[in-house]
Amino acid sequence: MCLSAFVAKKEKMKLFDVYPLNDIVIKKAMGSYVWDDKGERYLDLYGGHAVISIGHTHPHYVKRIEDQLHQVGFYSNSIKIPLQVELAEKLGKISGKKDYQLFLCNSGAEANENALKLASFYNGRKKIIAFKKAFHGRTSLAVAATDNPNIVAPVNETDNIIFLPFNDEDALETAFKQNEISSVIVEGIQGVGGINIATNSFLKKIRSLCDEYNAVYIADSVQCGYGRSGKFYSHDLAEVDADIYSMAKGMGNGFPIGAISISPKIQPKHFMLGTTFGGNHLACAAALAVLEVIEKDDLINNAKKVGDYLTEELKKLPNIMEVRGRGLMIGIQLPEELNMVKKNLLFKHKIFTGEAKPNVIRLLPALNITKTEADIFLQAIKTELSPGLTPHV
Ligand SMILES: Cc1ncc(COP(=O)(O)O)c(C=O)c1O
Repeated sequence: MCLSAFVAKKEKMKLFDVYPLNDIVIKKAMGSYVWDDKGERYLDLYGGHAVISIGHTHPHYVKRIEDQLHQVGFYSNSIKIPLQVELAEKLGKISGKKDYQLFLCNSGAEANENALKLASFYNGRKKIIAFKKAFHGRTSLAVAATDNPNIVAPVNETDNIIFLPFNDEDALETAFKQNEISSVIVEGIQGVGGINIATNSFLKKIRSLCDEYNAVYIADSVQCGYGRSGKFYSHDLAEVDADIYSMAKGMGNGFPIGAISISPKIQPKHFMLGTTFGGNHLACAAALAVLEVIEKDDLINNAKKVGDYLTEELKKLPNIMEVRGRGLMIGIQLPEELNMVKKNLLFKHKIFTGEAKPNVIRLLPALNITKTEADIFLQAIKTELSPGLTPHV
């Protein structure tokens, strides 16, 4: 064997380095806490990016998945899966959209991809309205509708997307007049974009223009949905019904599952949409456990109660430029000179938070976070925001 072949054999496969990582290994998780490999405990107000909805390793959730795994873990969508029907009924009831139809998939991007495709099947049109600072995922059409050129590959580029300023009703009206619009995709509260709230009047305008022009209103509820805002879908705050709601993240509390909830005006045809893994037995068990806990423990009201408390208390603290959000989706806009606060919260106070650029701390905790846990965070951020404090990492 030549030397180069010998060296190549000893090499190990590496991870494709696309994520800047914090030097932390999580070994255990429970409720709103996680523990690292040294036994250090952290309060989790990030929820693994808005994913942990009912708390880490919730006993009902663990049991539901474990029991299901002993029965059947997976079979394809070529057979009847009663768990899917049960999930659809439960989701319809808790979301208040009982007459909608459920299509199950695996992620937020896939949910949006299917929503945009379905809208185009429905009205035979191509043009999509998306908004500045929107994030809809990384698959082909979802990423094209995402306002971040750095993650759009040349092959994803399309002139079918029209980007408009968020909350600009006149621009919306003009775009509808000038183009054959298939769909409008909009986050009720922009997450990655920095916690920006769509106004009620803007969402109502989207609804009325979609009705007038037979276009499809797609409510991207991947991050702002599933009870996080204090309503099941944040679009409910505006008292409008969308034609399609996309969801993922909190739906499986960490088990990969996504879905679209589709209004009765859109009729299915066989083979129009499809997936191998979507709606598999384990994913349905996980999603049912989540909804059962949300319902039993009244978590949507808890999200509103603790979220309102956090927002009110944060507004009293010094040096914050703005506190934005609804329920447990909160953005804390900080001045540039306080750009070390997030790091200090993590490494000094052992509290995970999320972020958005530029300099927004994003809170996306589990919906069953307690007031006591909220107070621990408030105390920590208070010390970080106090004038004269030196950066400490
Ligand atoms: C609003 C929104 N839509 C879609 C997505 C994409 O979801 P996923 O990462 O599950 O594909 C995200 C992810 O952050 C999101 O925040």
